[in-house]
Amino acid sequence: MRAVNAASAIPPEQLRLSVAPMMDWTDTQCRVFHRLLAPHARLYTEMVHANAVIHGDRSHLLALDPVEHPVALQLGGSEPALLAQAARIGAEHGFDEINLNCGCPSDRVQAGRFGACLMREPALVADSVAAMIDACNVPVTVKCRLGVDDDEHYEVFRAFIDRIADAGCRMFVVHARNAWLKGLSPKENREIPPLRYEWAYQLKRERPDLAIIVNGGIATLDDATEHLQHADGAMLGRAAYHDPYLLHRLDVAWFGGELQTRSQLLRALRPHVEVQLARGVYLKHISRHLLGLFGGQRGGRAFRQVLSEGAHKPGADWSLVEQALAVTEAFSEVPSSARADAALRLCSGQA
Ligand SMILES: Cc1cc2nc3c(=O)[nH]c(=O)nc-3n(C[C@H](O)[C@H](O)[C@H](O)COP(=O)(O)O)c2cc1C
Repeated sequence: MRAVNAASAIPPEQLRLSVAPMMDWTDTQCRVFHRLLAPHARLYTEMVHANAVIHGDRSHLLALDPVEHPVALQLGGSEPALLAQAARIGAEHGFDEINLNCGCPSDRVQAGRFGACLMREPALVADSVAAMIDACNVPVTVKCRLGVDDDEHYEVFRAFIDRIADAGCRMFVVHARNAWLKGLSPKENREIPPLRYEWAYQLKRERPDLAIIVNGGIATLDDATEHLQHADGAMLGRAAYHDPYLLHRLDVAWFGGELQTRSQLLRALRPHVEVQLARGVYLKHISRHLLGLFGGQRGGRAFRQVLSEGAHKPGADWSLVEQALAVTEAFSEVPSSARADAALRLCSGQA
């Protein structure tokens, strides 16, 4: 019997581009930066366990800046009543979507019997999703793998999805590889099990009324664009974090608008940074998310170096970001010049 996920109609243009939930990375400071780069992307929090949402420090765990919307709260857990309570709290806090993690393979998560283990418990996931839908008025979605360990049958994966869809879930983010629960670290579990995008594509063909978002190993604009031929959207994780300018290029390519330079984008973050510093946030908590902005560019290493060395010092403020920009711009204006080296020495206090 299908529950009513009445609020589940996410506009299709909001599905196309999203940034993956990433523990320790996609905190509110990161999301504000990503929003600036990609006005049309759907953003995800780090996974927060339902218990933490209920009992923990919500001002920290559910921190949300109004510019982040649309933004989803990702929950971990496997107890329907707790997940429902956490989903309600998340929706009341202003999150636009509540996403259930069925893909994390870490030992800690396995010990708690949630994350990727849930791929083997479709009935429990269905109960959880149904309870969450009942408890809140925003879309409830699921992020999953293709299976765990040696699950190699597409029909098993599709049966998992069907069961959850019957509980009312209309959107699935598919990290298109298995999770191997024994012997691989979470990092290896993002690299070693082979990607099988075809399963996600086939699911979309066979279940066209479900929104299917493809995730895993998407590293370039062309890769991402190709997925849109077969599914409703592409979710980028590591590439978006390490090469945030890719997010901007994708947003402009898919939704229009004018391509800004990296420096323009960074300077647009200044008002936010200054408000945060005035509230007592340390620059290093913001600047750590900016380090990849000039990756692969002339001066990119210097940008990283100036920011990462300086942001830890007491009193570090926006002027450090300007110094990093000045060094980077010096590199790009005068290729391989001594001026750039001198600028770098100046900023690192060696001159
Ligand atoms: C540092 C890090 C933390 C992650 N934390 C989460 C998480 O909290 N929840 C989740 O569903 N996936 C998490 N993931 C997995 C990503 O959401 C994504 O599924 C995976 O990285 C594959 O996408 P990619 O190849 O584009 O990075 C994490 C990945 C990384 C790199």
